[in-house]
Amino acid sequence: MPRRPKVTVVGAGNVGASTAHWLVSKELCDVVLVDIVEGLPQGKALDLMQATPVEDVDCRVEGANDYEATSGSDVVVITSGVPRKPGMSRDDLLATNSKIMRTVCEEVKRTSPQAVVIVVANPLDAMCHVAYDTLGFPRERVLGMAGVLDTARYKTFVAMEVGCSVEDVHGMVLGGHGDTMVPLPNHTSVGGIPLRELVSNERIDAIVERTAKGGAEIVAHLKTGSAFFAPASAVSAMVASILRDKKRVLPCAALLQGEYGYRDLFIGVPCMLGAGGLDRVVEMKLSEHEASLLENSASSVRELTTALANLDKG
Ligand code: NAI
Ligand code: 2OP
Repeated sequence: MPRRPKVTVVGAGNVGASTAHWLVSKELCDVVLVDIVEGLPQGKALDLMQATPVEDVDCRVEGANDYEATSGSDVVVITSGVPRKPGMSRDDLLATNSKIMRTVCEEVKRTSPQAVVIVVANPLDAMCHVAYDTLGFPRERVLGMAGVLDTARYKTFVAMEVGCSVEDVHGMVLGGHGDTMVPLPNHTSVGGIPLRELVSNERIDAIVERTAKGGAEIVAHLKTGSAFFAPASAVSAMVASILRDKKRVLPCAALLQGEYGYRDLFIGVPCMLGAGGLDRVVEMKLSEHEASLLENSASSVRELTTALANLDKG
């Protein structure tokens, strides 16, 4: 009998628990929640499992403080790490979260050697490098979630501006998950109509700016943590495409090997996601201006990977 897919979510905090919630509510898989805090993953898992008869979904949800129950997972989502506080940048999280990422990836490598790993902890692109180096998995099975979230924020703001359904907004945000991310207004349409025919350049610039600072806007409201509903929803879209071999084209952080002119760098680009993880990086024509914005974003990621290397030396 075919078994239900198994997804491990490491970190049972805001993003981790919400990810488990979206996965179960979409009846995508069984879920194992892992956290170092005793009782936290067990309690949240049991609570979520008790929602399944109400929602009419058949998914097992289990909580654990070690990795035995996670063994043989199809997908592992890594959210463990500390989130931002007001005034902190994602990069301030580098030292703490890279240590956590290494420890977690050692366990994942041991217990789920065939899994597709989705990195969520920040600073995202740098954490993808840490995960890739520690796991030793092929690049197809190490991806970062950021572009789906940044794109969702962008589409939300476009729909709010036009007053239309979010369903009719098509567009994408590329680049690293930071202030230098690259929304692409010239590739954005609403019901097939180019965005620039509907919204003034001035308003588009404001939407682009608000998107780039979308995470910080929520941190400023919350004061004690960062966004989690939309990030977790974005993770669940990636997981769905992988588990169902949908081959959706979603912006994800992937290790580039020559695509877009970059090599050995994780950065957000359109990725086709299927059963093995990254099916392929989809290349699109960028204008000179767009390519220079992507290069600016790539430089910020490189700065972080250099800072990481220096941390390792020090
Ligand atoms: P949170 O503080 O609510 O949850 C983090 C959890 O990780 C805590 O429960 C903590 O006990 C756990 N943890 C810490 N070390 C661990 C370890 N070694 N093993 C297992 N669990 C461990 O934080 P939240 O809001 O869930 O955010 C998690 C991370 O995701 C942060 O780094 C945040 O910046 C990042 N993030 C990234 C986004 C993206 O677009 N890539 C979007 C939103 C958040
Ligand atoms: C966000 O964009 C904090 O990276 C997280 O909300």
